[in-house]
Amino acid sequence: MVVEITTRTMQAEAEAIADAACILTAGGLVAFPTETVYGLGADATNGAAVARLYAAKGRPRFNPLIVHVADQTAAARLGKFDATASTLAAAFWPGPLTLVLPKTDDCPVAELATAGLETIAVRAPDHPVAHALIETTGRPLVAPSANRSGHVSPTTAAHVAADLGARIDLILDAGPTRVGVESTIVACLSERPVLLRPGGIARAAIEQVLGQPLGEPAPTRADAPQAPGMLASHYAPISRLRLDADMVEPQEALLAFGPGLPPGAAHAVAVLNLSPTGDLVEAAANLFAHLRALDRSGARAIAVMPVPREGLGEAINDRLARAAAPR
Ligand code: TXA
Ligand code: MG
Repeated sequence: MVVEITTRTMQAEAEAIADAACILTAGGLVAFPTETVYGLGADATNGAAVARLYAAKGRPRFNPLIVHVADQTAAARLGKFDATASTLAAAFWPGPLTLVLPKTDDCPVAELATAGLETIAVRAPDHPVAHALIETTGRPLVAPSANRSGHVSPTTAAHVAADLGARIDLILDAGPTRVGVESTIVACLSERPVLLRPGGIARAAIEQVLGQPLGEPAPTRADAPQAPGMLASHYAPISRLRLDADMVEPQEALLAFGPGLPPGAAHAVAVLNLSPTGDLVEAAANLFAHLRALDRSGARAIAVMPVPREGLGEAINDRLARAAAPR
């Protein structure tokens, strides 16, 4: 007899959130929705729980995690806010912005969660379920995207179940996520804040609040990256991606953007459009689900139409480039 072990998925209502908080307090792993993507949560103060989380994801140990908190007051127990960091938190929290800050001296977060760094990444997610879970658990929660390391991030509970299956204790389901790409990461460690990862808040919106351009990260080293999730081949689906395609070749699927389709589209193995109207916010929300679906189409490769680089287009192009990088 074949016994199939599957993870429980529960609609994210009050009772399920209470169950989830108990599991987290006991050191378990719970996938939950945020406004960006689904996260795989663990108690950030429990080193053993964090170790189980790395194992479930199959994540290289040097990849530090984002610690999720309710608000800036909670974040200030973990990281030191300078004036710039406070300005950014006031403007964008709760929301898809992660701040990398110097760790406080009595930071309760497990050393493993920050991979032994002197800095810590914190964010206050803008999702009622994430917020309720953090408040009910009463602890900061680490939550990397709830996918196996190197796979695309999950934007539905079904994606989480497909990728992490029986490796975790519970999945809270609250439907598809709104933003669809991960948070923007900004390091506030010196005079000038630095953009480490483009994401759900556009660079221009941050620069407008700051009144100055964001700095660029120093070139990353493969062994000690600044934001190690930025490894070139991160976010890889299985099929080959062909970027900036102006036509569809035989046996390709098409990831389209905007109203007009390129020559050859009629013969594509499958066609999905990130946004038929050319809306970059809609495109970000659809990105990972469409990549997954086209990956399953059996196509030889996925032709990807050009996506403009302004606004959320910066994050979309970043994720596409990583998914296309040779492995
Ligand atoms: O939207 C998001 O940020 C999602 C949801 C679930 O909140 N989370 C997410 O986590 O994308 P993850 O683990 O997939 O990506 C975390 C990124 C990695 O690139 C990691 O290297 C970077 O944050 N990071 C964490 N701590 C850091 C630190 N102290 N310094 C620099 N980068 C850091
Ligand atoms: Mg991730």
